[in-house]
Amino acid sequence: MQDRIRPVGIDDVTAVKTIEDSCFPNPWDIDVFIALAESDGCITLRRGKQVLMHVIENNGSVAGYIVWENCPDTHKGRVLNIAVRKNLQRMDLGRSLLQHVFDSLTERGIKTVALEVREGNLAAHRLYERMGMEESGRVPNYYDNEDAIIYSITL
Ligand SMILES: CC(C)(COP(=O)(O)OP(=O)(O)OC[C@H]1O[C@@H](n2cnc3c(N)ncnc32)[C@H](O)[C@@H]1OP(=O)(O)O)[C@@H](O)C(=O)NCCC(=O)NCCS
Repeated sequence: MQDRIRPVGIDDVTAVKTIEDSCFPNPWDIDVFIALAESDGCITLRRGKQVLMHVIENNGSVAGYIVWENCPDTHKGRVLNIAVRKNLQRMDLGRSLLQHVFDSLTERGIKTVALEVREGNLAAHRLYERMGMEESGRVPNYYDNEDAIIYSITL
């Protein structure tokens, strides 16, 4: 079966949280995922800013997800979270999720996308570089004792 990318739903939250807990030392709270699922994967904030979350299915099960911001007033997008189930990594799902977000933001007139990543997360660095993103900054101690590297791309 083909991979399918769609807005997160409430039935996805348990699988999402399991992936989140297995991938990150400081996982997001389940309430964030519930709030996004209860809003059909799109929460609108002030000045039209949106926080969106889509999941990718593999053979009908949730295999990964991506959370991003769309800021129409600044024409900027930001990836807030991306993860793929460990046993399904290196199968192009991360690449598909990022491309999906780039396409979605491009359709909405967004010009640049940025994200922060732990300095030591080399798998993620390679993914972002593979997607044409470039290092554009550093935030010292953004993650407790680890710097964040900022990656960005002009769409
Ligand atoms: C980072 C992550 C989302 C990548 O997802 P993925 O589905 O495994 O990535 P893809 O299969 O689409 O990989 C695309 C490219 O990224 C690079 N890449 C991905 N994982 C890599 C790894 N472990 N080592 C080296 N390069 C890697 C490769 O260039 C790869 O292309 P290739 O397989 O043709 O060489 C996944 O490793 C993950 O969920 N990690 C834990 C959560 C996380 O760190 N998220 C990022 C937070 S900023």
